[in-house]
Amino acid sequence: MTTKKKLIAGNWKMNGSLAANEALVKALLQGVGTPACEVAVCVPAPYLAQLQSLLSGSPIALGAQDLSAQPQGAFTGEQSAAMLKDFGVRFAIVGHSERRQYHGETDEGVAAKTAAALANGITPIVCVGETLAEREAGHTAEVVKRQLAAVIHVNGHCISEIVVAYEPVWAIGTGKTATPELAQSVHALLRAQLHHAADEHAAGIRILYGGSMNAANAAELLAQPDIDGGLIGGASLKAPDFLQIIAAAR
Ligand code: PGA
Repeated sequence: MTTKKKLIAGNWKMNGSLAANEALVKALLQGVGTPACEVAVCVPAPYLAQLQSLLSGSPIALGAQDLSAQPQGAFTGEQSAAMLKDFGVRFAIVGHSERRQYHGETDEGVAAKTAAALANGITPIVCVGETLAEREAGHTAEVVKRQLAAVIHVNGHCISEIVVAYEPVWAIGTGKTATPELAQSVHALLRAQLHHAADEHAAGIRILYGGSMNAANAAELLAQPDIDGGLIGGASLKAPDFLQIIAAAR
């Protein structure tokens, strides 16, 4: 068994303000101590400078929620990996289902963004997951494998550098968490696919679960053999809840 630390990453989505961020981070830093896992918060782009300063010297790493696949140029509204790097960003969520759904992100686009992150020393947190309709039609395995295959196809040579997040779309923000067994079964599929691409390195790739993970269900999910952490939306905005999830990740 490779020794890998679990990763608990908060996804703040489009929430926060200068004042709210400061209060949240202060409470997190007061309670986080020396965590057994790695911890990150993925914040809205306008607050990267604020968070870089608030988190400096702390055990909490800074993350972004998206990045451009392009290095620079005429791409209005986008942020390049190099720009994120300028603010000390260590992780970037890539291909979140909300980006796929509302911004038309394709498997190929997600693969290109993954490559841009890796080329700039940012760890991509690559999201995959099926919708409710896809699950009910029995297509879960096919969908998540297709999404991950596109990323492996472009990034196979450095696939051991990525983090994967399994986020069933029907569980995101709904309070309907996947059962630990159901999540584990998809994680095992993804692990097998990574094994095919990365041989022995696959065991070291972290596969996070995301979708209504909270203080009450985190320990049970994180006890599954192939669940190596969590990508936490709603519960990452409440310091006591996020701290409890961090404490459950050992
Ligand atoms: P949730 O979001 O924890 O609020 O369900 C998770 C995510 O979308 O990353």
